[in-house]
Amino acid sequence: MENKEKVKNLIDLRLQAKLGGGEKRIASQHAKGKLTARERIDMLLDEGSFEELDMFVTHRCYNFGLEKEKYLGDGVVTGHGTIDGRTVYVFAQDFTVFGGSLSETMALKICKVMDMAMKMGCPVIGINDSGGARIQEGVTSLAGYAEIFERNILASGVVPQISAIFGPCAGGAVYSPALTDFVMMTEENSYMFVTGPKVVKSVTGEDISTEDLGGADVHAGKSGVSHFKVENEEEGLMLIRKLLSYLPQNNLEEAPIFDTSDPIDRLEDSLNEIIPDNPNTPYDMKTVIHTIVDEGEFLEVHRNYARNIIVGFARFNGVSTGIVANQPNFLAGVLDCDASRKAARFVRFCDAFNIPILTLVDVPGFLPGSGQEYAGIITHGAKLMFAYGEATVPKVTITLRKSYGGAHDVMSCKQLRGDFNYAWPTAEIAVMGASGAIEVLEGRTISSMNDPEEKAKFIAEKVADYNEKFANPYMAASYGYIDDVIEPRNTRFRVIRAFQALQTKKVVNPLKKHCNIPL
Ligand code: HXC
Repeated sequence: MENKEKVKNLIDLRLQAKLGGGEKRIASQHAKGKLTARERIDMLLDEGSFEELDMFVTHRCYNFGLEKEKYLGDGVVTGHGTIDGRTVYVFAQDFTVFGGSLSETMALKICKVMDMAMKMGCPVIGINDSGGARIQEGVTSLAGYAEIFERNILASGVVPQISAIFGPCAGGAVYSPALTDFVMMTEENSYMFVTGPKVVKSVTGEDISTEDLGGADVHAGKSGVSHFKVENEEEGLMLIRKLLSYLPQNNLEEAPIFDTSDPIDRLEDSLNEIIPDNPNTPYDMKTVIHTIVDEGEFLEVHRNYARNIIVGFARFNGVSTGIVANQPNFLAGVLDCDASRKAARFVRFCDAFNIPILTLVDVPGFLPGSGQEYAGIITHGAKLMFAYGEATVPKVTITLRKSYGGAHDVMSCKQLRGDFNYAWPTAEIAVMGASGAIEVLEGRTISSMNDPEEKAKFIAEKVADYNEKFANPYMAASYGYIDDVIEPRNTRFRVIRAFQALQTKKVVNPLKKHCNIPL
């Protein structure tokens, strides 16, 4: 072959590789409302930045006549590119090649980009759209999965890992996304489950659709497996870009700082009136968040799961900050198993990646009852406590209203190494709410009273007494557990000042192999 022909041959091979499983299968992918692996990568990355690797890799399986059917690149597109100018490593499973099913060589391709990402200290983004283990390959495919899992585990806490589920993700294949930091699912076409509806039916007799078993609503709302639910792939890919803007490239770096025209001393009078006079009346904590952060921009994580707690990213004076906030608007902001797990995972992510944490507290306590006890609220609550107590990033806590009992301790209190703990004058910091406390303390006297009027008067007096003593932040402030009582409208300024003062914070936990968080 002449050199000229060699070049033409290369161009032809590249064109062939770019067609994946062929035009018919690409058309079928589009007909399902899905993009191809390459289209997804192009949309995700900065224009023209993608450099593909291993385009000429093919599978090496000889079972069931598979050697006669080979596609350049096999069932995954891998490489690197940039997002807002920062390097990321990507892999996108190509459903047009054997349904994106994982072969030995596909696993090698994925592992290669994961290893590169670790070496270079860059995020890894995986786009999943696959029929699972390549059936014809048997155990080499299973081994390939395990190679990926091990890398997911070692990369955890070193580089951010993000998984987008844009198609099937079933069987053991679900565990790679589950090991990553963030999982995203599209409303249609995506599902995740350990066993599909047919197996479920044959084993348990339960009749359930794919959607109801492992669709985006299930995982973003009920199980919490998915952190984000998006309407379509484009929205998902743009969300990944946005999410990365809040994150550093790796655990040794800081998140990028953005210019902002939002004044740091912006006063928000509305906050002085946001807490209702009746302590049982809810308000929307998201209003508080949007009001105090830069330009009102908040990227919420796990929006549909455990809505009694809010977690997500925002910026204060351009600095990326993780926010954890009780939501009085949902279940009164109580801490239950799901809320504890959700917040604990978020706190640990922030701590692993040097993102300071702001905690906004309005929590009536842990949710009582057998349901929660049987579900292990003790262990789950301990996770959140552990996560806060272990975290060494700057931690600022603001108590807006209730902060009762164990939940007070858990929500980044001073003794869990909260750096600056402020309270609004509306804060109530106590072992429990007034009526519960009076019932315990005065139960015998109350039950001995026969006259309902006298009883009501007695309780009202005792409640008023208790509130006078505890339904305020000053008792806690008198012990130094609250560093300052601040005017609500000045919250943004005080938070920014606090984080500025914490910029040089250095705390090192005792040396150990690893902790034993109550999983
Ligand atoms: C090999 C596969 C495949 C697989 C799909 N294909 N899954 N080839 N191994 N696992 C091929 C099909 O033969 C077909 O080839 C093409 O991909 C597209 O598949 P279709 O069935 O036509 O597509 P669709 O109707 O959209 O259905 C998609 C699907 C279905 C729901 C994913 O293909 C399916 O149920 N596949 C099997 C899923 C499964 O049970 N996987 C194993 C899970 S257990 P042609 O040539 O016709 O285009 C597992 C263990 C992992 O993964 C353990 C890790 C620890």
